[in-house]
Amino acid sequence: MKPLLFSFLFFIGFSVGCTEPKEDKKQKPTDTIELLAALPTETPAPADNPTTPEKAELGRLLFYDPVLSGGRDVSCATCHHPEFGYAELRDLSIGVNGEGLAGSRTFRTPNDIPFVKRNSQSVLNAAFIGLTNGQVLNPATAPMFWDVRTQSLEKQALEPIKAFEEMRGHALSSDHVLDSIVARLNAIPEYRSRFGQIFGKTDAVTSDNVAKAIAAFERTLVAGNSRFDQYMRGDGNALSPNETAGMNLFLQSGCAKCHNGPMFSDFKTHVLGVGDNEKLPKSDDGTNRTYAFRTPSLRNLRFTAPYMHNGNFATLEQVLTFYEDLAGGKIENPHVKAAQLDPLTHDLKVNFKDISLIIEFLNSLNDTKFDRKIPEKVPSGLKAGGNI
Ligand code: HEC
Ligand code: HEC
Repeated sequence: MKPLLFSFLFFIGFSVGCTEPKEDKKQKPTDTIELLAALPTETPAPADNPTTPEKAELGRLLFYDPVLSGGRDVSCATCHHPEFGYAELRDLSIGVNGEGLAGSRTFRTPNDIPFVKRNSQSVLNAAFIGLTNGQVLNPATAPMFWDVRTQSLEKQALEPIKAFEEMRGHALSSDHVLDSIVARLNAIPEYRSRFGQIFGKTDAVTSDNVAKAIAAFERTLVAGNSRFDQYMRGDGNALSPNETAGMNLFLQSGCAKCHNGPMFSDFKTHVLGVGDNEKLPKSDDGTNRTYAFRTPSLRNLRFTAPYMHNGNFATLEQVLTFYEDLAGGKIENPHVKAAQLDPLTHDLKVNFKDISLIIEFLNSLNDTKFDRKIPEKVPSGLKAGGNI
């Protein structure tokens, strides 16, 4: 846990460092290593929610406590488990009425709950969502989800609790879900005292403070020392010759037009025309019904398989073959017309022979050393993690 002062200084320092005028688009370095960067070593936090060890520890308990779900059986960790890099290695999530973890999670019978329509993202490095090259990161406006429908980790944290198929289920009505959860937490002495110590003596258990504690915990889940990071910080031997060759091919192929900056994401939405997942009753049309999805980070791809917003590709070979086809003009999704494709996809130059080296490079972005601590027990007395 970094002391509060450091987080604060980082945020200020970052803002000051970015006052240079924005570069003209044409002058931006293209296809060069300057498009990429190591993760910062300090973690930002919004001014009104500084990260403290006590708050992050409360957030950890909440993250694992199924008391936040209608049926007291699903926690955040159900779909974001440390064993799977805080993601879950399955195409579409199962929340309410499920049992088991990750690939072996299934619905109990009888069942009338649908799949969550998207692939679970990793919460690792969520503190850096929105951080792009040369821009000030404002954690309060960080664009969340595959369709950027929510901004900031604080606002994001309440969405799964409210979502019917993720955590709410039939047990709570959508109008009262947050009030009901707050009442449950208020009835648990350990939560009352922890919230009181952190947020003030009276009325400390509120949905806003639940969100703040969870977000503070998430900001401590950093995996920022991949071999790529070591290389960018000056250790020229951290990447093998094949991996540096793969990095150059990644740049030359046009991948970094979108996958750039320290997170390998521009955090913008783009139309690529990925096909539909046939388990879903209807086509997922993405951001504002345009079939655009937010560029995902390419960090820790080892944990985020299967890939894309709906987990349509099991392997990185399949993802790269998809890009090779796209570069050749093939559109996978019949609902997407050529004119809708993101113009940046026209710059893709993907050669079959380069694919394995690009994948070697992508694997150098994994960092498997991160906080995996699961609380032995949670204050509700329920099973930590839920029905997993
Ligand atoms: C039933 C499975 C499930 C549960 C439970 C769940 N999530 Fe998620 N989470 C997902 C899925 C699926 C997505 C992607 C949804 C989308 O983009 O539309 C996601 C996205 C996220 C993101 C966005 C990451 C990004 O890159 O934008 C964060 C942060 C997150 N979840 C945190 C949480 C927290 C905190 C909780 C508990 C309060 C939680 N999740 C509960 C499945 C789940
Ligand atoms: C025009 C912007 C753009 C370009 C160029 C681009 N990508 Fe992507 N990438 C995206 C978007 C957007 C998604 C998510 C698409 C979806 O889910 O429908 C994505 C998804 C991915 C994923 C899946 C990650 C995950 O965790 O699910 C990988 C891997 C990937 N891209 C690698 C690459 C590589 C390698 C290249 C170069 C050959 C490349 N991308 C070029 C925007 C881009």
